[in-house]
Amino acid sequence: MKVLAIGDVCGLPGVDFLCAELPALRRELGADLTVVNGENATGRGISPELADSIFYADADVITLGNHAFHNRKIFDYLDERAHIIRPGNLPSQLPGVGHTVLECGGRRVCVANLMGRLNMDFRLSDPFAAADRLLREQDADVYIFDFHAEATSEKNAFGYFLAGRASAVFGTHTHVQTADERVLRGYTGYITDLGMTGGADSVIGVIPEHSVEYFRGAQTLRFESSESDLCICGALFELDAGGACLSVTRIRHEKN
Ligand SMILES: [Fe+2]
Ligand SMILES: [Fe+2]
Repeated sequence: MKVLAIGDVCGLPGVDFLCAELPALRRELGADLTVVNGENATGRGISPELADSIFYADADVITLGNHAFHNRKIFDYLDERAHIIRPGNLPSQLPGVGHTVLECGGRRVCVANLMGRLNMDFRLSDPFAAADRLLREQDADVYIFDFHAEATSEKNAFGYFLAGRASAVFGTHTHVQTADERVLRGYTGYITDLGMTGGADSVIGVIPEHSVEYFRGAQTLRFESSESDLCICGALFELDAGGACLSVTRIRHEKN
């Protein structure tokens, strides 16, 4: 089984590019299951319309992150749809849930979304304990984790914590693809960050000048998404029949 994981989709240029390219990319890579991080589809957050577009483009699961609830229009959608998930270690009274289970090639695949705590939201509970609980309580053949976190150290630690238990652990949030993809303890496919989907000629998805203005102390903030040098970043995890990851391949796809 091949699992394609795609990093944070940034703004309309990112969503449009993903929708145009994903069906062919999926076929080309032979992906059986595709997970897309959509927390930046509207810049900060995601709308029902853009989530529909990402599903229509052949994503099986949409994961989110710290921007999950910035767009209030998504609240009901999160409660109504099973395959869009938000970090499970945020307070349970918030809309949506943190994992979903799908049937894929005769196997039950659990996809989960958790957030790291270093320099993140103070309301988060321990993601390590949450992952442990999920593995204990959720019956599935394959477990896949999108760990949305700031620090490479916390992401690494989370990967090793799940080594031998999860088939794939990938990081999102920092939008810069890391070159440390590998299989941990002969079982768990891992990469610290998938990178982003959108205009690569940018500061993590934002038009460079807008970001420079922000860091120099501008009073009025502009954060428009770049549409220059569009690409899809992610990773492809190949799993054997027992759920062990055989290989992790970094993906950086530009328009053909
Ligand atoms: Fe994020
Ligand atoms: Fe993001």
